[in-house]
Amino acid sequence: MAIGSLAVLGQSAPASAIEESRMNRVIPAPVSVTPDRHGGAFELSRDTVISVDRGARGVGELLAGVLRPSTGYRLPVVTDRRQGAITLDLGYVPARLGTEGYELTVNRGGVLVKARTSAGLFAGVQTLRQLLPAKVESRTKQRGPWTVAAGKIVDFPRFAYRGAMLDVARHFFTPDEVKRYLDQIALYKINYLHLHLADDQGWRIEIDGWPRLTEHGGSTEVGGGPGGFYTKAQFRDLVKYAAARNITIVPEIDMPGHTNAALASYAELNCDGVAPPLYTGIEVGFSSLCIDKEITYRFVQDVITELAELTPGPYLHLGGDEAHVTTDPDFIKFFDRVFPMIEATGKKVAGWHEFLKATPPVSGVAQFWGTTTTSELVADAAAAGNKILMSPANKAYLDMKYDESTPLGLSWAGFTEVDDAYDWNPGAYVENVPESAVLGVEAPLWSETLENSDHIEFMAFPRLPAIAELGWSPWSTHDWASFRTRLAAQGPRWEAMGVDFYRSPQIPW
Ligand code: ACM
Repeated sequence: MAIGSLAVLGQSAPASAIEESRMNRVIPAPVSVTPDRHGGAFELSRDTVISVDRGARGVGELLAGVLRPSTGYRLPVVTDRRQGAITLDLGYVPARLGTEGYELTVNRGGVLVKARTSAGLFAGVQTLRQLLPAKVESRTKQRGPWTVAAGKIVDFPRFAYRGAMLDVARHFFTPDEVKRYLDQIALYKINYLHLHLADDQGWRIEIDGWPRLTEHGGSTEVGGGPGGFYTKAQFRDLVKYAAARNITIVPEIDMPGHTNAALASYAELNCDGVAPPLYTGIEVGFSSLCIDKEITYRFVQDVITELAELTPGPYLHLGGDEAHVTTDPDFIKFFDRVFPMIEATGKKVAGWHEFLKATPPVSGVAQFWGTTTTSELVADAAAAGNKILMSPANKAYLDMKYDESTPLGLSWAGFTEVDDAYDWNPGAYVENVPESAVLGVEAPLWSETLENSDHIEFMAFPRLPAIAELGWSPWSTHDWASFRTRLAAQGPRWEAMGVDFYRSPQIPW
């Protein structure tokens, strides 16, 4: 049936092949999708309301914010129950759905999303967006009909942690640019955004008592541009904006290497007492905090205390990668003093997997970023009870070029086309790291070559949804042929949203 005839038939229309196909195009693939061929189609109209339980008003308003501009409908968010509504219900769902799972039931009489928490409702709403026509994502008024096929989706995540990382140190991204990325990753049920807040080229977060970190250390970036930093108020606002989208911010201050911006800001942090110049190149592994100076630990203590205060989430990330000018004994000595500082805050420490050279507490999370599938350090940590976060650089690093013609990005871990990003199993990837030891996946986006939102989007889309699916969907749904078809259906959505994505030749756009 052509979509035009549905408009004539209105709410009593049977679900067409077009709507039903949208049920099978959701990314990440849901746990189960059951079309209801006798249930007709739900059609959003000028009279539709969004009916929410009190604890779900925020989720309802976010949904209305997506739907109002394109449909032109008022879509009031109400707290009483109505016939024909989109209902967001915080109620009983089976235990296996956990805190982020949801049930989504659609028939001609309405849409019901049920979940135990607002996080689950938010996830269900992201699915509902994908069941509507792509142009619903437009910021300007479009023609309907706005129909959703009848059926039921039951869904919950495979892994607790589905992350993205943005490097705001190599190039600074404004709070609005970060919010734009938060909006984009939320659609794919990403629930952590790791912000790489300091590196050799820049320090991007205010720390009281160490004002030169931002005044001087934040004053440039790769290529010599003006850099920037987040005030504490701006950072808190980002945390809040993310939380409304079920995303927890994980702040990272990399140490003891990747610290030139701090060392340039405070001469006394250097072993020789001489501040190096600011750095705007892209080499790595040349800087280190001074392991044998007491002021180093006063500095790190202040940073950890303030990051913990700024961060409601469970993780503080301390980097620990590429400390090439710190000897192993010094590296261990350093982290032996720093790990207890994190434990005293009640947070869990996260670090790039080399931080396992020291001995993080068993609550510590090791982020694997290697390019092989073996790591004794990581396997030993998993055996000791540490959780592992999977970010293999040749699969999950969104800053790797797609192929030799990609104008942005780097290629030290190889070219990464969409099928490379999709075709690996995080639960069975690193030798002797069983699924039970895997916390989840994270897709890092390093910004040596990236300067603005267009650049972020070109590298993240379409690979970010591939990593998101690996984190959310049951392995039984993993199927490249299905994924590439479903990914193609996202293209018109990204066009409607103004997302500048890479039109990979692997995908039938
Ligand atoms: C890293 O890519 N240096 C973690």
